[in-house]
Amino acid sequence: MTGDIPPSADPNRLPEIGLAVAGRGGGLDDLRSLAARCRGCDLWERATQTVFGEGSSDARVMLVGEQPGDQEDLAGHPFVGPAGKVLDRALAEAGIDREQAFVTNVVKHFKWRPSGKRRLHERPNARQVRACRPWLDAELSVVRPAALVLLGATAAKSIVGPDVRVSDAAEPIESDLAPLVLATIHPSAVLRSVDSEAREATFRRLVGDLHLIADWMRSTGSADLDPATPPTPGSPP
Ligand code: URA
Repeated sequence: MTGDIPPSADPNRLPEIGLAVAGRGGGLDDLRSLAARCRGCDLWERATQTVFGEGSSDARVMLVGEQPGDQEDLAGHPFVGPAGKVLDRALAEAGIDREQAFVTNVVKHFKWRPSGKRRLHERPNARQVRACRPWLDAELSVVRPAALVLLGATAAKSIVGPDVRVSDAAEPIESDLAPLVLATIHPSAVLRSVDSEAREATFRRLVGDLHLIADWMRSTGSADLDPATPPTPGSPP
């Protein structure tokens, strides 16, 4: 499918080209190899590599974070660093099998600034988020998830609009991107908590929101869930 995209294709236009490829039936491997060459904004210059979404094109749940972090940039995989470990634990507690989910970010390159020997995360700006959006739209059009989970304010605001609040209890968001769209806190909020009590409360909030997804998937028969995990207490069977 990417065979008809010449290697000389303008790398600045690869996000739009990728979206068109997805529209013509291209798969995730096609998109991943195009995204690896992307120069749609300036972030590629300092990043090690593009970190494209991972998971099956049959995944029923898509989880979207902000951008790869330091470890993701080096490994080339989303959510494999400290925030990823928190996400893994929260998913497991909610009974969602990460192997059955599609995990990605709104921005596919790590944005950072140097601080001594460290690379400090910097939030992507609106132009960088906009430039990367066709890749997310391409992922959505291939995977067509039943549930779309937006992790943190950057993902939520850039995808559903500036009014969305992740500090409030998660409510389904009206959107044509997926049958169920929910915004919740970013797993890194757990790591930033001031003490162990706050950390536990923030983690519980994340697990609770993921449980809503699991319950909805179960009640609509969209499943791929861990059958050993009981539904949230009080939820319909
Ligand atoms: N934070 C994110 O938003 N995405 C990742 O992949 C890792 C950390």
